[in-house]
Parts: sequence; C-alpha cells; structure tokens
Amino acid sequence: MPAGPDAAAAGRLRSSAWFASRGRPGMIYRSWLRAEGFTPEVFDGRPVIGIANSWSELTPCNVHLRGVADAVKRGVWQAGGFPLEFPTMSLGETLMRPTAMLFRNLMAMEVEELLRANPLDGVVLLSGCDKTTPAMLMAAASVDLPAIMVTGGPMLNGKYRGADVGSGTHVWKFEQELAAGRMTEQECVTAESGMARSCGHCMTMGTASTMACIAETLGMALPGSATWPAADSRRLLTAQLAGQRIVALARSDLRPSQIMTRQAFENAIVINAAIGGSTNAVIHLLAIAGRVGVPLRLDDFDELARPVPTLVNLMPSGRYLMEDFCYAGGIPAVMAELGDLLHAGHVGVTGRRLAENIADAQCWNRDVIRSADDPLQPPGSGTAVLHGNLCPGGAVIKQSAASPHLMKHRGQALVFDSIEEYHLAAGDAQLRADESTVLVVRGAGPKGYPGMPEVGNFVLPRKLLERGVTDMVRISDARMSGTGFGTVVLHVAPEAVVGGPLALVRTDDWIELDVPARTLTLQVSDDELARRRDRWAPPENPHRRGYARLYVEHVLQADQGADLDFLVGASGADVPRHNH
Ligand code: FES
Repeated sequence: MPAGPDAAAAGRLRSSAWFASRGRPGMIYRSWLRAEGFTPEVFDGRPVIGIANSWSELTPCNVHLRGVADAVKRGVWQAGGFPLEFPTMSLGETLMRPTAMLFRNLMAMEVEELLRANPLDGVVLLSGCDKTTPAMLMAAASVDLPAIMVTGGPMLNGKYRGADVGSGTHVWKFEQELAAGRMTEQECVTAESGMARSCGHCMTMGTASTMACIAETLGMALPGSATWPAADSRRLLTAQLAGQRIVALARSDLRPSQIMTRQAFENAIVINAAIGGSTNAVIHLLAIAGRVGVPLRLDDFDELARPVPTLVNLMPSGRYLMEDFCYAGGIPAVMAELGDLLHAGHVGVTGRRLAENIADAQCWNRDVIRSADDPLQPPGSGTAVLHGNLCPGGAVIKQSAASPHLMKHRGQALVFDSIEEYHLAAGDAQLRADESTVLVVRGAGPKGYPGMPEVGNFVLPRKLLERGVTDMVRISDARMSGTGFGTVVLHVAPEAVVGGPLALVRTDDWIELDVPARTLTLQVSDDELARRRDRWAPPENPHRRGYARLYVEHVLQADQGADLDFLVGASGADVPRHNH
C-alpha cells in the first residue's frame, strides 16, 4: 500500500472531531444521529463513509442507484465502517433545460460543500448520467477526502427489428431517416420502445460511458467496473467491493490528489482515444484537472492521442454497444492491449499499480476490442485539436465519427446566430446551401447559450438530406453528444459572445478545414477582420439574477474546462469547528 499511516490508528479520522467529542457537543452529534436507530457502536471510532447518491426519477440513467447504494452499504458494514447515504443534485441529460451542462458546476459545488460540511472520512460517489460523473469527480478533487466512484453501468443493448439500437446514436439516425422520408412516425415510436429497455446510462460510447471508463482509468473506480451493465448482478457486486475498499482508503488516507495525478490524466487521454470516447471528455478532464491542480492543456489531448489507435468498436464510431464491450473484457482488456502507451505504475483506489490490476486481463471478442495490429482506426484518429484564426483558443473534432472525405474541405459559410435560427431555416427548400457549404452556428458556447448545449451535430438541411447527403462540415462553439457523429468542429474558443472570431464570420466567407494539418482557417484578411471587430459589440447578459447570472459572469471558456473561475482549485476538507 502506498498510502500514509493508518489514519484511524493515528486518531486522525475527521469524523472524530464530531463523534469523539466529550460532553455536550459529542452528545448532540451522537444522539441526533441515533434518531435513525443506530446502536452506540457506530461511534466507536470507525470510519464514517458517505454515499453520495445522485438518484432521481428525473434522471432515468441514475434511477436504480438506491439499490446500488444498498450494496455499497453492505460492503462498508462488512469492512467495519459506518455508512451514511445522502442525496445530491442529479442532472438528467435529456430533460434539463436549457442544457444539463449549465448545472454541472452547480452540482460539483453542491457535492463539494456537502462532503466538507459533514462528518465524513471517505465517500462513495454514485453517478451515471453524463454530467453527474464529472461533477462528482470535480467535487471530490476539491475536497480531497478519500473517495471511490461507482457508476451505475450502461443499459442493456437496445433492440429494434432484430438489430442492435444505440441510445442517442440511433436517435440521430432515425431523425435523418424521418426527415428524408425513409422512416415513418409510427416506426419511430416503435423503435423508441426498444431503445432504453433497462435501467442504466446510454449504452453507446457516449459521454456517460466515456466518463465511466475515464473514472476507472483515472484510478477513481475499481478496475473493470465501468462496463458491467446496470442490470447485471456484478454491478452490485462491484458496489459492495467499493464499500469494502473505501473503508480501507479512509483508514489509510489515500486521497484523490494522490490518485488523480498527471500520469492519471495522461492515461485517461490515451484511453479516451482508444475507446473512441466523447469529445465532452476533453472539457470534463480539463475541469477535473483544474480542481486537483494538475496542469493540463487542450493540446495535450491531441499530442497524447496521436500514437493511439482506436481499438474499441462501439457506436458511434463503430458497431457494438457497452454490453458487448463488457463481455469482451472492458477497460482492463483495452489497457492490456495498449501496453507502453499507458503509465503502468499509476496507483488508483485499489492501492496497486495499474500493471498489477490488469495482469489477468484478456480480450474475449476481437471484433469488439481490436488488437493494436488490427485497429478499428489507425493511430491519430481520435479527437483532434484544431488551431487557426477562427479558433485562437482551439477547437476539437472527433475524427473517428467524421467522414474521411471531409477531413480536408474548403467551402463557403452559411452563418446562423443561434441554433434556433438554424432549425427554422433547415427545412427551407430555398436554403442557399449545397453539400460543400460550411454550416456555422454561434451563440451556443458556455456563456452564449448559456451552458454550451450539445447541438453541434445539428441535423443537415432537409433538402440536402432528401438528396442523399449524409454529412457536411459543421462548425460551432457548442458541444456534441458523445453519441453523435459527423464532421463537426466543436468547442470553438473563444466563443462568439465574448468576441471570438466566430462572431465575425459572414455568410459566403470561405473557410478551410484541414484536419491532418490541425487547422481551421477563416479566409478573410486581417484588415477586414479588424474592420468587422470595430463594428462588433458584445451582447448584454440577459440573465439578471440567480444561478444563470452567476454562471455567465464566471464560466471559463471550453479550452479551460468551462468551470466557474472561482471553483478552480481545491480547498481541502478542513472546516472551522462549530461549537454547539
Ligand atoms: Fe443519461 Fe445518456 S441521457 S447517459
């Protein structure tokens, strides 16, 4: 074990400041909790383990987490800890408006304060849906209490007419089929019923699956735990093991800052490339790294991913789903295949080196997890980071989900100031666009929308879909769902509403995308851009009060993780002692 001395033996358990107090203060804390019917032994100096539960009926991906919490409790009791489950904010990706991303930082702030304010020695973080996993990791990083993440696991494979159907990915496909007249409304309704046929998060390699794999790779979740389907009994077994393990972590005081090191983030970037992970991982990893004080740059994602082949054959980049990935061996099998591309000495919540964790890993299906000699996509086909006069702060494109013939493309811009404006125009048979047009949507960045919604892979104009066009270059300051696909340039920074060059583009300007060269160029002279800038004025913040105002005033740009500026960094777990 690489951790420090036994915190319990050294009398350093944080909860002792509450429960070991003599006289009136200790009596208040103990008697108050005994209202729940606990026997006095729970206050004998054992680690108090919080179970932070993002369960909600408004977050179907997390709705089974109460059962998972029960399994965690079994493990905590078994190992001699004292488990206390508590609810956190929950972020349901598909339901929340204007976008769940607006609230990721709010949830991170809420969980951080709950962890710090309560008498906890360690915490098990229960997450699932896209934003709940990064929010909890950000919180854990800022408090730096011993922590293990247990994600809820993916849904079972979706099914429609005998074929696998991927959550999200097939929604976009069916939308295009409907718009092109190749599918009826009734067929779409029938398809819906087989799309989400069990509890769990989206079972494509969308953001939820990506972030679960990343939590495992960072070392914050148990090896192999990311991929067990939510409905598989081994999901609960994993939860029970995590309950056992967190008690040991609390005793040894192995903390997130010792686990989420630069090596851990580098491993996460490599794994994200190998699994064909979501572009959202870029933003979330930058934000988590900012919390834990690890210097991480947007360009690290390109540089570290270049030698990495895409191995995992999952939608949206490939054909399989998370259930298949699990049975093929999951993340440990991918790690074993990547060999020297990973830091094998990294130590996570198991207390063992990564190399030891994956010593027995095997691949059981070579079409799902390809070998490095026969990858799904060659090295360097992961998320690319672009630079140029249209995106001085950078932009990203998911190459594995893009069309090869558009990776080098020059076309004239058709510009929309909002996604709503685009949607109004997209059905217009007279729209001045052909397949060479570069569609530009702005006003969808962190401050602009606000919250940077997942609209970057907007559906193509109807008249072009009807003509059989399946992809076009699309550029925006928005994000894209991890389940989405297409030649879409995302996260353009700085965004338009803060005066990024995206604000200066005009319809009919020429834009050149050159992904192999990693450039995105607005072919307009510097003098002309300067003239346009002189005439540009920033829009007023329309949000006069509440969280939206706080968010718009303080959110950072995409290349910095879109965290709130005052939340970057850590404050630790210490709180002034309140004297009852
Ligand atoms: Fe929750 Fe996809 S909507 S994981």
